[in-house]
Amino acid sequence: MTIKDEKLYIVMVGLPSQGKSTIAYRLQDIFKKNDIPTMIYNNGELRRRYAPTETWMSEFYNPENTEAVDLRKHFALMNIQRAKAYLRNRGMVAILDATNVSRSRRQLIEEHLQDHPILYIECINNDEDIVDLSIRHKVRSPEFGSLTQEQAVAEFKKRIDYYRLIYNPLHVERNYILMDSLHNRIVNEQIEDQLPLYSRIRDCLVTDVVKSLYLIRHTESMYNVEDRIGGDPDLTERGREQARALGRFFRKKRLAYIFTSEKKRTIQTAEAIRAEQEDCEIVPLREFNEINAGICEGMTYDEIQRFKPDIHSARKANKYTYAYPGGEGYATMKERIKIGIKKAFFLNQKPDNIMIIGHRAVNRMILSHFLYRREDDVPYIYVPQDKVYHIVATQDRKVFELKKYA
Ligand code: F6P
Repeated sequence: MTIKDEKLYIVMVGLPSQGKSTIAYRLQDIFKKNDIPTMIYNNGELRRRYAPTETWMSEFYNPENTEAVDLRKHFALMNIQRAKAYLRNRGMVAILDATNVSRSRRQLIEEHLQDHPILYIECINNDEDIVDLSIRHKVRSPEFGSLTQEQAVAEFKKRIDYYRLIYNPLHVERNYILMDSLHNRIVNEQIEDQLPLYSRIRDCLVTDVVKSLYLIRHTESMYNVEDRIGGDPDLTERGREQARALGRFFRKKRLAYIFTSEKKRTIQTAEAIRAEQEDCEIVPLREFNEINAGICEGMTYDEIQRFKPDIHSARKANKYTYAYPGGEGYATMKERIKIGIKKAFFLNQKPDNIMIIGHRAVNRMILSHFLYRREDDVPYIYVPQDKVYHIVATQDRKVFELKKYA
């Protein structure tokens, strides 16, 4: 193709739980905001609509099960035809969201879609924790209703193994991008045609777009009252009441996930918020655990000053780079916090509200990820327990608000 086409097919490629749909939604969202009519065609949705009873079983994905192979091909063709009709009419971009891991499936697509260029986006995510969390989320769908969670997870993993058998990475295709979908990094690309919207797509793929992030510090804990650091204390009665107030504050905002640390005080805060939501999952991530104060865990600031004066003064002299003996410092937390943020964005598939409930030091690091702050100032960012940070950071909008919730 030499003439620059105006319309485009985007074909997602990758095993289940690699972040394909998240990327498809992100692209659709950015195009729609720019008045570029875009539709996503998801094979899984057709399968669940037209063959809901038999398609949760891993056997349905066995490449030797010819009947099932035909049925899956049939659904793929339905979406191919729909995508084609859409671009023939008012559509500008049609996204085919399915595994499309075999060369033969991609040949089928290419045979039918010759009217506009095709850009393949292959997603790879090797983080086992995330794949696991994402599978656990997927098996909450009604199609697995007859199984226990463990059985459903096992079925889903077998399904992935069947897809692995027929996996053919992109190579001969004319236009493709290979994405590390957890880190929003382009690992490889090959573009032979002049593609419309290419630089916008590329930009969208590598940008952390935050449509609406609510960042909260857990409410009052037993240790807060005593001015103790670290540990794993419960909330106080006042903290529980604050958490219920948060629940009421967020009642009308849909939250698919609440990301917390593994500590009780963040999970208890999240539980009170979830109680006011319809379908919301709490996901504890170790990356959001509070700064590990090493040998000072459980001490008060006053005790540290009296009994460990060297630690007190060294930390005071350089709070950002100082690491507690046997523990961490702000600087050493940076990488894990970044990974936590990536995980949260990866799992939050549709671009709706994200909530993170963290701790004082953790939230400072998260804030510094979105806000420019000199390193020396990061350990002093204001992180109150009675207010909520609301952050929006898209290509055309930046919002940073601190709101009182009660
Ligand atoms: O006091 C609560 C707390 O979250 C502690 O667990 C943690 O060590 C501290 O805040 C972090 O704040 P700073 O770096 O200012 O000591």
